[in-house]
Amino acid sequence: MTLDVEAVRKDFPILSREVHGKPLVYLDSANSAQKPQAVIDAEADFYAQHYANVARAVHTLGSEATNAFEGARDKVAAFLNAPSRDEIIFTANITAALNLLAYSFSNASTFPGADQFRLGPGDEVVVTEMEHHSNLVPWQLLCQRTGATFRWIPIHGDGPNSGRLVESAIDEVITERTKIVSFVYQSNALGTINPVERIIARAKAVGAYTIVDAAQAAPHLPLDVQALGADFVAFTGHKLYGPSGVGVLWGRYELLAAMPPFLGGGEMIETVSMQGTTYAEPPHRFEAGTPMIAQAVALGAAVDYVTGLGMHDIREHEQALTAYALDALQTVPDLSIIGPSTPVDRGATISFAIKGVHPHDVAQLLDEDGIAVRAGHHCARPVCVRYGVPATTRASFGIYTTTAEIDALVAGVRRVQEVFAR
Ligand SMILES: Cc1ncc(COP(=O)(O)O)c(C=O)c1O
Repeated sequence: MTLDVEAVRKDFPILSREVHGKPLVYLDSANSAQKPQAVIDAEADFYAQHYANVARAVHTLGSEATNAFEGARDKVAAFLNAPSRDEIIFTANITAALNLLAYSFSNASTFPGADQFRLGPGDEVVVTEMEHHSNLVPWQLLCQRTGATFRWIPIHGDGPNSGRLVESAIDEVITERTKIVSFVYQSNALGTINPVERIIARAKAVGAYTIVDAAQAAPHLPLDVQALGADFVAFTGHKLYGPSGVGVLWGRYELLAAMPPFLGGGEMIETVSMQGTTYAEPPHRFEAGTPMIAQAVALGAAVDYVTGLGMHDIREHEQALTAYALDALQTVPDLSIIGPSTPVDRGATISFAIKGVHPHDVAQLLDEDGIAVRAGHHCARPVCVRYGVPATTRASFGIYTTTAEIDALVAGVRRVQEVFAR
């Protein structure tokens, strides 16, 4: 079955509004996706009918709220094909998930049985040059705290492999000294889908932990943590048509069970005395304080929604859009794609540059036509440095994107060029 895009669009109330008197053309889903009515209703209904704090109350609302929150954990576990619901940790977003790991690892020397996570001089942490800052800065900070060395797999900035990892560097950079390999599945700045299996296999061969930033993968392709074989996978709710304020960290249970806590506080403890504290088992050890209850419940509704559409169909729809958009954009003179220019191993996020026009001007003029795109370094500044550009314009698609909207983008880009040619 293929995706019925017109039916999908009807599920998203915001898509019927206008911007500057023109129909909204929302091409900024890689930044944050719009929400279907089912997600909006799930969060509103939870507040209207079932709200209470979780885990603490014996009253009816408390148990309804706890059931809804823990039910969302079940849904996310099924979505990822995780072996156990106890491997799902709710965080504020993926940034918080990645920081959780980096800070937990640096607490290893003070936590009994956590020696395996200890880093020090001589150890190395590997990322790629196309990381979002949230999968780069936490590891730089971890290296600063521990004396470990920060390394990266470079990308091609031009040529036929533009926007792809330098594959020969995978084996050179990931070595016996590597302790952690943390990398992005699909780049938010380039659209590249990385050779995930190859990187994980190399990391495993040298005994390194693997962490996958699936922020741009979870909304667009089927994700199966068991098939993937990584140790940790994280994503963020608001890009998966869910609410902001909630993200997910999945980890292998035996690793989570050995990991030190990051944040201390309520709900993450087993027992507390003035002499010391023992900690809860995962996932609660990593969920200190009142969690993002309503947001997790609504994320459960988002997971139901995309699962109902079918992740394979979503991927197919977006592959077709990507091929269409790459062809159409490349008919525009003086426009260059920043990233892979063919649809192979690529997601539906396309960055481009227009000769002589700053990306911010492009985005502003497109907005006058009702077209929402992002301009900037997309929190992946090293990518812009590699390409020698200050910023790019980025159009990103989702389940509700149509080829007519891509036509509108191309017409809008041509209008931008006319304005600047005057
Ligand atoms: C690949 C990737 N990783 C991480 C993030 C950070 O997401 P959040 O701000 O929700 O933590 C983003 C957001 O753009 C992203 O695209």
